[in-house]
Amino acid sequence: MFDKDVYIRRRRSLLEKMGETAAEGKRGIAVFVGNAEAPAQYRDNCYKWRQDSSWLYFWGLDEPLYGAVIDLDCGEETIFADDQDIDDIVWSGPLPSVRELASKAGVLKTAPYKGLDAVVAKALGQGRRVHFLPPSRYFNTMRFMDLTGWSREDVTAVAPGEGRHASRELVEAVVSLRLIKEECEIVEIDAAGAIGQEMHTVGRLSARPGVKEQEIVGKMEGVTLSKGWGVSFPTILTQHGETLHNHGHDGILEKGRLLVIDAGAESNSHYASDFTRTLPVGGKFSPKQREIYQIVCDANEKAFALTRPGIAYRDVHLAAARVILEGLAAAGLVRGSIDDMVAEGIAGMFMPHGLGHNIGLDVHDMEDLGENLVGYDPDQTRSPQLGLGNLRMARVLKPGHFISNEPGIYFIPALIGQWKSEGRDKGFVNFGKLAEYYDFGGIRLEDDVLVTEDGARRTGPSRLPIQPDDVEAAMQ
Ligand code: GLY
Ligand code: MN
Repeated sequence: MFDKDVYIRRRRSLLEKMGETAAEGKRGIAVFVGNAEAPAQYRDNCYKWRQDSSWLYFWGLDEPLYGAVIDLDCGEETIFADDQDIDDIVWSGPLPSVRELASKAGVLKTAPYKGLDAVVAKALGQGRRVHFLPPSRYFNTMRFMDLTGWSREDVTAVAPGEGRHASRELVEAVVSLRLIKEECEIVEIDAAGAIGQEMHTVGRLSARPGVKEQEIVGKMEGVTLSKGWGVSFPTILTQHGETLHNHGHDGILEKGRLLVIDAGAESNSHYASDFTRTLPVGGKFSPKQREIYQIVCDANEKAFALTRPGIAYRDVHLAAARVILEGLAAAGLVRGSIDDMVAEGIAGMFMPHGLGHNIGLDVHDMEDLGENLVGYDPDQTRSPQLGLGNLRMARVLKPGHFISNEPGIYFIPALIGQWKSEGRDKGFVNFGKLAEYYDFGGIRLEDDVLVTEDGARRTGPSRLPIQPDDVEAAMQ
């Protein structure tokens, strides 16, 4: 947990921002709930504990069953939680009192957890606005249904103004704060980057023909479990990289195949990293693999070179798409005007995802609050095209944005078949040549990037090898 001043400052900023959306006396209350434990089977056998990220951001306390209210009209803050009973102490060990923990977050007033119900009921009864974020977990969805008496659809919907829904004003205020990383957060994301890079180094050195994918995953995850909280998302490690989020690990590494490793660490303070590298099993790319790999590598480098304050990440995505199309044209897989192909979204058949997303307390930072509210400026609309339309971070970049840069090329037979049968390629794709790539797999190369005052820098102490010669040398 950071020093209490960090949390006090964040909540003061939130209060100021919420003050801009309504006149004094009309602002209402902002209600936050942390996560509850989630039993896997019997009550005390729970899934690994993870606190809600927006709760962590404003209140810092990493314990289950906490709630809080900020009165947006008078600024009063209250934390709602229960002190331990003797059973808790016997089974889970003693903890400081709620009052002591609350003081670490700079909050003086505390009340029992159930006290939150009466506060919300009173505010609703007085016709005051009750602002809350859309809950990301089912338990908290039910908690807000209980607190408000509204339906599941109501409490998970985000809309502005009065009504039975989560608060768009609060989402926008929270997003505007969490999007710009503070110095103390940047230190933590770099720390998560260092662990993530160590995971990848262990993975790369273990990736030899005959080894089980599962064995490598175990070694990699052991690194972050021994140095941080664990993985920042379920590890993707597969020789079927054409499946973008392939979580199966039952393969055995075969010489000559490509291994996609997309994995990251979460630091003990819950900040994330997220890196992808694609390795040639056996240590040498075939000429065909190297040609496609180099295109993805060039797209990654181009995207990084363009990343700086003032450019929309949407335009960086399109620049990466252009590099991919130019490379595929040189390989004979597409043909025609590059400008027209970029405009028609032809890159989407080869890269059906966006260039990147925000990274912070979540690996896909704040996407539980609504992808468009997080990743799009008010004057940007999301494209309907495959690929560009899957871009989660399109905003004009500002110093303090932490984003992933993760271009890829994938040969997905079912998608190629669909585009071919529906003529979606508009004549740009050389399907005859493409037939030679049906068993190629996929390639993705991902770094985490901080937008600085005058450009950008990558996370972590040293960049993972990415140029094909460097990857081959590092695998020897
Ligand atoms: N690393 C997984 C993702 O970005 O979706
Ligand atoms: Mn990513």
